[in-house]
Amino acid sequence: MTQPANDPPLVQDAAFAMHDARNMLAAIVLNVDHVRTVLPAANTDPSVREALDEILEAGRRIEAILTQAIETARGRSVRALSPARRPVSAVVAEAQEAVRRLARNAGVAISVRGGGDGVPAMDHGLLLRVVVNLLQNAIHHSPRGGTVELSYNAGEQLRLTVHDEGPGVRPSILPRIFDPYITTGATTGHAGLGLAFCRSVLEAHRGSITASDAQDGGARFVVTLPLT
Ligand SMILES: Nc1ncnc2c1ncn2[C@@H]1O[C@H](COP(=O)(O)OP(=O)(O)OP(=O)(O)O)[C@@H](O)[C@H]1O
Ligand SMILES: [Mg+2]
Repeated sequence: MTQPANDPPLVQDAAFAMHDARNMLAAIVLNVDHVRTVLPAANTDPSVREALDEILEAGRRIEAILTQAIETARGRSVRALSPARRPVSAVVAEAQEAVRRLARNAGVAISVRGGGDGVPAMDHGLLLRVVVNLLQNAIHHSPRGGTVELSYNAGEQLRLTVHDEGPGVRPSILPRIFDPYITTGATTGHAGLGLAFCRSVLEAHRGSITASDAQDGGARFVVTLPLT
């Protein structure tokens, strides 16, 4: 199964970079864990402990992402990795937690409405990345004081919607919004890869994603995915 010698050079370079980034991340996670352990609980502002916990949690998520990406670059399909299945409510709760600080700093509220505790037919970590990408975009495009609404329904299949109160998708972008490297945020460090990742991984699992401007304003993204 190991075949780095035959990988196209670009894929191999990307795999090397991800591998080294994962090693450096391990050092960050270990050091944060150390600081968290030696901080005297009594004299530490609870928000410091909370921030360290969030750094650790984010670090572990990035480790999982890099591991998945390295395995994929190695020639295994993402679907071939042994998937972790979790109920959609767990995925949504974790995604909300992952963007909590981002939303707070942007002055954006996240409101979640959902029903049905079906288990999506996709790895938990992959679906988490899809939902986090959609929430990050929605927060990024929201006005301060706005609300991002995430609603889901897991009846026959999962249907998950993320709706924001921003300006909506720029019309020139809309037809190509799921293509890689399509972005209006190049000057602010965005690559235009978030939605391309979402479409690619959803379609590989017989799911779908659509983008539209909601009638009451803002952008609306709708994800569908079969349940197990
Ligand atoms: N909620 C939204 N409201 C308005 N426009 C959006 C929204 N989400 C995405 N877009 C538009 O779609 C483009 C592509 O989104 P995508 O997530 O793929 O890339 P990005 O956010 O620009 O960069 P990256 O995700 O790689 O950091 C964005 O640059 C933006 O123009
Ligand atoms: Mg994005």
